[in-house]
Amino acid sequence: VVRKEFPSILYGTAWKKERTTELVEMAIKSGFTGVDTACQPKHYEEPLVGEALKNLYNSGFQREDIFIQTKFTPLGGQDPERVPYNPELSLEEQMEESLEVSLKNLRTEYLDSWIIHSPLNSFGETLKAWRLMEKAVESGKVHHIGVSNLYSFPFFEKLYNEAEIKPSVIQNRFYSQSGYDTEIRKFCLEKGITYQSFWSLTANPHHLNSFSVQKASIRYGVTPAQIWYRFLNQLEILPLIGTTSLQHMREDLAIFKFELEDDEVIEIEALL
Ligand SMILES: NC(=O)c1ccc[n+]([C@@H]2O[C@H](COP(=O)([O-])OP(=O)(O)OC[C@H]3O[C@@H](n4cnc5c(N)ncnc54)[C@H](OP(=O)(O)O)[C@@H]3O)[C@@H](O)[C@H]2O)c1
Repeated sequence: VVRKEFPSILYGTAWKKERTTELVEMAIKSGFTGVDTACQPKHYEEPLVGEALKNLYNSGFQREDIFIQTKFTPLGGQDPERVPYNPELSLEEQMEESLEVSLKNLRTEYLDSWIIHSPLNSFGETLKAWRLMEKAVESGKVHHIGVSNLYSFPFFEKLYNEAEIKPSVIQNRFYSQSGYDTEIRKFCLEKGITYQSFWSLTANPHHLNSFSVQKASIRYGVTPAQIWYRFLNQLEILPLIGTTSLQHMREDLAIFKFELEDDEVIEIEALL
C-alpha cells in the first residue's frame, strides 16, 4: 500500500443526506479522485460514502484510485443523540472507536487521511489526541494526519513542534475573519503541509464579483468560481468542493485546463 499524495481538489460530502451515495459516485465518475467526510452523523453520512465506494469498486475503480479522508469529531461537535462512539470512554478510546467505525463505514483497511475535526479544549488535550493519531499512523491504519478549524498560528506551530509525526494537512474555513490564514498558509508552504479550504466560494462572493476575478473570467471564458478555484490551486491551496450539480463538478474539474499568469495571481491575491 502506497502513501498517496493529496489530490488537487477533493469532493466534500457534508449535508448530502440520502443523496450522498449518488453524489459521491457522480463525483468520482466525473473525475474527482478523492472524498472528504467525517464520522459525524450530524452533518455527514459516512456509511453512504462507503456504499458509494462499494458501488464504484463494483464498476471497476480500485481502492488505490480514490483518496479517502475522514475525521474524528470530538464530543462537542457531535449530536448528543447520535454519537458514533461511546462518550463515556477516555478521549483516546473514543478516537480508537471512531477510527474503527470510519474504517468499517468506508469499507477500507486504511485511511489516506485522518483529521481532528477541531482542537480539543486545551493544548494538552489536543496533544493527547495527536499522540493517538500518531499511533494510528504507526499501525498502518492511517497514512496522513491533520487538524481542522484551527485558526491560531502559535497553537498550530506548537503542535507541529511537539508532534513526532508531523501534521500533513490543515483544513480551515477560507474567510476574511481569519485574515485568510496568511501566517498558517506560509508555514504550510515552508513545511510541505497541505492547506485545505472550505467555504471557499460561499464566504467570498465579494471577491468572485471583483473586477480582477471577472476580468480573468472573461479572458479565459470560464466562470468566476472556476477562476477562484484555479487561483486557490495556484497558491497551493486544496479546495474542498461540495457541489450537488454535475455541471459544477465538470466545471471545477476543468480548472486544470487553463493556468492564470503570475501577475493575475498576484492581482487576485491582493484582494485577500
Ligand atoms: N472541517 C469542517 O469543519 C468543514 C466545514 C464545512 C465544510 N467542510 C467540508 O468542505 C466541503 C465543502 O463545503 P463548503 O461549505 O466549502 O461549500 P460547498 O458545499 O462546496 O458549497 C458551495 C456552494 O457554492 C455553489 N456553487 C456555485 N458554483 C459552484 C461551482 N462551480 N462549484 C461548486 N459549487 C458551486 C454550490 O451550489 P451547487 O450545489 O448548486 O453547485 C454550493 O451552494 C464539505 O462538503 C465538507 O466536506 C468541512
